[in-house]
Amino acid sequence: MSTYAQELRATAQAMVAPGKGVLAMDESNGTCNKRLGKVGIEQTEDMRRAYRQLILTTPNLGNYISGAILYDETIRQSTKEGTPFLKVMTDAGIIPGIKVDTGAKDMAGFPEEKITEGLDGLRDRIAEYYQMGARFAKWRAVITIGDGIPSRGCIEANAHGLARYAQLCQEGGLVPIVEPEVLIDGDHTLERCYQVTEETLRTVFNQLYNQRVAFDQMILKPSMVISGKDCPNQASVNEVADATVQCLMNSVPASVAGVAFLSGGQSNEQASAHLNAMNVKYADQAPWPITFSYARAIQQPALEAWKGKESNVSLAQKLLLHRAKCNSAAHEGKYTPEVEKELEPVTA
Ligand code: 13P
Repeated sequence: MSTYAQELRATAQAMVAPGKGVLAMDESNGTCNKRLGKVGIEQTEDMRRAYRQLILTTPNLGNYISGAILYDETIRQSTKEGTPFLKVMTDAGIIPGIKVDTGAKDMAGFPEEKITEGLDGLRDRIAEYYQMGARFAKWRAVITIGDGIPSRGCIEANAHGLARYAQLCQEGGLVPIVEPEVLIDGDHTLERCYQVTEETLRTVFNQLYNQRVAFDQMILKPSMVISGKDCPNQASVNEVADATVQCLMNSVPASVAGVAFLSGGQSNEQASAHLNAMNVKYADQAPWPITFSYARAIQQPALEAWKGKESNVSLAQKLLLHRAKCNSAAHEGKYTPEVEKELEPVTA
């Protein structure tokens, strides 16, 4: 058992507390640059820093966000005025987290499939991050649905990586967010997504068990069971909620501290509506809290409004807070069209 067991349990529970969820802002420099570039913002270290400052200094963010996942560059940065981001976060009651995988790479021998790297030297990196103040970590594995894929080889190798990472995290005092993402890309049906997600989760938990990971000291970050983006028949909000919870009930141990979904390319409103429906229908039956760990579905409106200009910071922060608030409401099963519309007068 980890010497940090008690602390890990408390951190994991705080991450998924009622009305709270996790903000993912751990885009690698490459991904962050791509997102800045898309909305016409200069792609420099200082713009990435300014954007992350905008997010972390949003007034009252800690009311809805329990923890935020940072990238290695970001955890070492400070505001323009010189306050370390880590201090800004702890002052706001937001637990610092850190992405520790080094990315999903093409998997040798498995065309069209990815394997996530980052185990080399991980024990030392975890020790440094813990000493800096991080209290949880993230590792994302990617499963692609397509012709004849995913393969068993890909699912097993990714599940093994996630389990090795999770055990190293618990040894070093970081709560592992275990993220096996089944991609939304493709024209597959909801049923196919269900099959692949169930096989993936069962394999992941088998590997976590083999590696002696403590389920009550980890957070699962799954994708929802949803129709592929290009599937002509798009499942309804209730169908997604039903299939997702059923799939997780069949594959995720009851002792897992919490489930915090990724948004995976869903629209902002869809991501809130799906999370809300799961909580309205199943909060009483599910053994774990069901919340969010969104990146795009929280950040996107803010990024578009900011445009890299100081004069837009306050509007962008209001938009960011609004999405955090909508998803907080969804975690409690209280997201309604009224909650969604609350911000309209501000943006008009
Ligand atoms: P999205 O919510 O944009 O899918 O991002 C979540 C995440 O952290 C992906 O690793």
